[in-house]
Amino acid sequence: MAECVEYCNSDPVKGETFVVKEKDGDNSDSETDPANWPEVRAADQFDQFNVKAYLEVFYETPHSNDAMKIVLFFLPNLVYRIPVGGTLFDLGAGPTVHVPLTFRDRVDSIFTSDYAPASQLELRRWWKKEPGHFDWSTICDHINSLERSGPEARRTMEQVTRDKIRAVLAVDVHSDSVIDRKSVFPDDAIVPDLFDILVCIFCLEYASETLDQYTKAVSNAIKLLKPGGYLVQGGVMQKHGYSCGGRRYRCHYLIESDLMQCLAANGMETDGDHFRMISHINVFLLVSRKKLQ
Ligand SMILES: C[S@@+](CC[C@H](N)C(=O)[O-])C[C@H]1O[C@@H](n2cnc3c(N)ncnc32)[C@H](O)[C@@H]1O
Repeated sequence: MAECVEYCNSDPVKGETFVVKEKDGDNSDSETDPANWPEVRAADQFDQFNVKAYLEVFYETPHSNDAMKIVLFFLPNLVYRIPVGGTLFDLGAGPTVHVPLTFRDRVDSIFTSDYAPASQLELRRWWKKEPGHFDWSTICDHINSLERSGPEARRTMEQVTRDKIRAVLAVDVHSDSVIDRKSVFPDDAIVPDLFDILVCIFCLEYASETLDQYTKAVSNAIKLLKPGGYLVQGGVMQKHGYSCGGRRYRCHYLIESDLMQCLAANGMETDGDHFRMISHINVFLLVSRKKLQ
């Protein structure tokens, strides 16, 4: 089991002194002390993201980590706030399929994606049932129990999800177009220009290190959403990153006022019936509708 810690800094201005919250093991010697692990810059996740460690640490059970616990617990409820049908885009899915699994009965088709080729490969492996893919059965059991959808729905859950997936895409939220349309799997997949539902969990702040980068990433992402479409965004606030599998991953230190300002500036509703936000221990999950005009 890879080790997992969160690291944070109570003073964002001073910057570099990480306060490590241990999850397992003691941090007494320098090799196991996450403060000594090499740091991965946001852009370097392209080829330095540890797929295996990430899945083992965060998705072995629905209770492996507080942040994931919040997302995995609340997402199956939030989906009911969004009209049924249409296209869903999981932007920056990493090697994970919990979003497609959760939305499988609520949408007509699913497009999943990531920045790192290794994560795209893991998504393809699971979709095409190739040997060695991560085992999602514990997470499926959890989603099924929250849905109260019964044993038959549990039995067919993964196949129903696979049947709705249309493509695995290569993406970069810092590129104006986000989707690399020359690198679509399968290469004959028809990828829409705009989607009905855009899901982006722990991605935008992890793809960025500054507010400027974060602001641009949000704007690029929201351009993929149809007017009247829904954004489901999950993330962390007031964190500098996390550590997992021997590496420290940096992220933009996001504060709530910037989160809301970026949504509003890009035509998203930030109050009323079409906005809902859950936030606990600096982890948030929100649903927001894109204004029609
Ligand atoms: C913390 S992981 C989140 C993965 C997944 N969404 C989840 O729910 O567990 C952050 C993800 O952001 C992706 N990412 C990093 N930079 C990116 C970029 N420029 N564009 C899109 N995704 C990026 C990484 O490849 C990684 O999969």
